[in-house]
Amino acid sequence: MKQVQDYIRTIVDFPHEGIMFRDVTTLFADPRGFRMAIDQMLHPYAGIDIDKVVGLEARGFILGGAIAHQLSVGFVPVRKKGKLPGTVISQEYKLEYGEAIVELHDDAIKPGEKVLVVDDLLATGGTAEAGIKLIERLGGEIVSCAFIIDLPELGGRKRLEALGKEVHALCA
Ligand code: PRP
Ligand code: ADE
Repeated sequence: MKQVQDYIRTIVDFPHEGIMFRDVTTLFADPRGFRMAIDQMLHPYAGIDIDKVVGLEARGFILGGAIAHQLSVGFVPVRKKGKLPGTVISQEYKLEYGEAIVELHDDAIKPGEKVLVVDDLLATGGTAEAGIKLIERLGGEIVSCAFIIDLPELGGRKRLEALGKEVHALCA
């Protein structure tokens, strides 16, 4: 039977030379693949108390929305700078290929809320760490971080675990 990783393709030299881009659009487009990914991402959280799912732009929105729906909890986006309409808090971070700023509405997470962070891929962990910092600045508690893909050679898992955060990923 096909596994989640079998639905993901790698595009060489995108968006820059030397980057092996893991393209999950082929996974999302396949009904069995997409359902399998969501079901497997949810698996560790059976019986775990979660108040909100935070999805990291952009593919974290697709996964996080489906996971929040399945958990019957609210979904909150962490977006790239300048996209959220309300009052925001901001966090700078470095990417595998560049620098950016992410933002969170300042009323999106209430102090003490238990938050699951969701994205498609963990590389350096810069994006996830920036999201975690934003959530924690509002008083949210990170329950766990869920990804489809972990690229262990880029150190993201170690970086998040060094912050005391739990990491789950479906494949490398
Ligand atoms: C990708 C991916 C993660 C991030 C991981 O997003 O979806 O969000 O990179 O890299 P990191 O662990 O080194 O931070 P990207 O920045 O390409 O943004 P996009 O989803 O908006 O295209
Ligand atoms: N974000 C950072 N590195 C990536 C990669 N290799 N593939 C897809 N998204 C990424």
